[in-house]
Amino acid sequence: IQLLQTGILNESLIQIEWEDYTESVAAIHRHLEGANSEMTGWLNSPIENNIEMVKSIQRIANEIKIAADVLVVIGVGGSFLGAKAIQDALTPYFGDCTNGIEVIYVGQNMSGAYIRQLLNSLEHKEVYVNVISKSGKTMEPALAFRVFRQYMEKRYGDEAYNRIIVTTDAENGLLNKIAKKTGYRQFVIPANIGGRYSVLTPVGLLPVAVAGVDIEKLLEGAKKAATVLKNENLEQNEAYRYAVIRQALYKNGYKIELLASFEPCLAKLHEWWKQLFGESEGKDKKGLFPASVSYSTDLHAIGQFIQDGSPIVFETLLHFKEILFDYQVPFDDQNDDHLNYLANQSFNNINAISKQGTALAHADGGVPIIQLELERLDAYHLGYLIYFFMKACAMSAYLLQVNPFDQPGVEAYKKKMLQLLQIDNFKNEYGVGM
Ligand code: PA5
Repeated sequence: IQLLQTGILNESLIQIEWEDYTESVAAIHRHLEGANSEMTGWLNSPIENNIEMVKSIQRIANEIKIAADVLVVIGVGGSFLGAKAIQDALTPYFGDCTNGIEVIYVGQNMSGAYIRQLLNSLEHKEVYVNVISKSGKTMEPALAFRVFRQYMEKRYGDEAYNRIIVTTDAENGLLNKIAKKTGYRQFVIPANIGGRYSVLTPVGLLPVAVAGVDIEKLLEGAKKAATVLKNENLEQNEAYRYAVIRQALYKNGYKIELLASFEPCLAKLHEWWKQLFGESEGKDKKGLFPASVSYSTDLHAIGQFIQDGSPIVFETLLHFKEILFDYQVPFDDQNDDHLNYLANQSFNNINAISKQGTALAHADGGVPIIQLELERLDAYHLGYLIYFFMKACAMSAYLLQVNPFDQPGVEAYKKKMLQLLQIDNFKNEYGVGM
């Protein structure tokens, strides 16, 4: 069964010489999967036996769900986006989630207003904290953790140490040192998995388990993808086909990829995807610019540009065929709005038709359209999709001849900021902020 289908709608727009890529794709595949490849722990982690890790995450998640009203998760970049993406995609839009509790994120910005209002909102709620940082020294989460550590100690006294869970490297970094010194419980981010490839480790799994997501199903989907996509044959590997289509479009002047979907709960998945592809490919003055649109909202805004503006954009339409909840358009006796022709139709059907209409219109406008179709929006299929994107991204970056696993450009802003904050001496002494 093909869990995910990729295809390009308007093939006539672009000639893809598939055979030109066959060998390089196979060679990159062998490099990625080879024993000497670095930072590729994520490739096999869903296949490996992770029962113990899953059990201990579920144990702590259950403890948190019983003892707390809210889990405050501190992290940024790869230590934030994946968890938030999965949580938003799989938990209800409104109201309480029956299987989980509220999970709130902080440490992705340095807004004093955000921290102040978050602290105020916690007043009558029982709180746990999960601080996530692989390096253990990133400025934004480090500052937020300083605030929340003090808050928890003041509020819970000795019990605070039990309510703070640390997710970080096993050996290195200030956060690891703090955890060891205080006895905070710790989950490990494997050394050979970089931030933006870490969502299927405790980085993403603990927060989403607390939010009520079935992490076993999520990992099952990822495991299926890891197995199916372990195939060097370009014709049979959907992730590699997606990577090649992207590269072919890039070479033909389409420098911007728009990830588009029709379900608003996927907006944060777009953000995770942007980080994955943007940080992995955007280097050495190369790379597709990853952008996203959420439809129908953006059809009434940036849709004009996509249809009719500079021909530099191609669109990747992400579609889940089945969505758990739905609603029927009611019949109206008056029919003042002339909408009775849609009475008794399901909103999800209308949405799916609007997706087809958009794809056809944009294709007519000369926009290349890649279609990614999955059966159902659930933990299993999302796990599959996440793995699919990570594998496609690694392939795509290597086809561009850049390293998918470093991010030298991110360091530039940190250096400038630290200079401006005039803390060079402090930084040298403690290694904070780099
Ligand atoms: O992908 C990456 O490596 C980065 O985006 C990191 O995830 C981000 O900078 C946060 O790093 P850390 O987890 O070390 O705080």
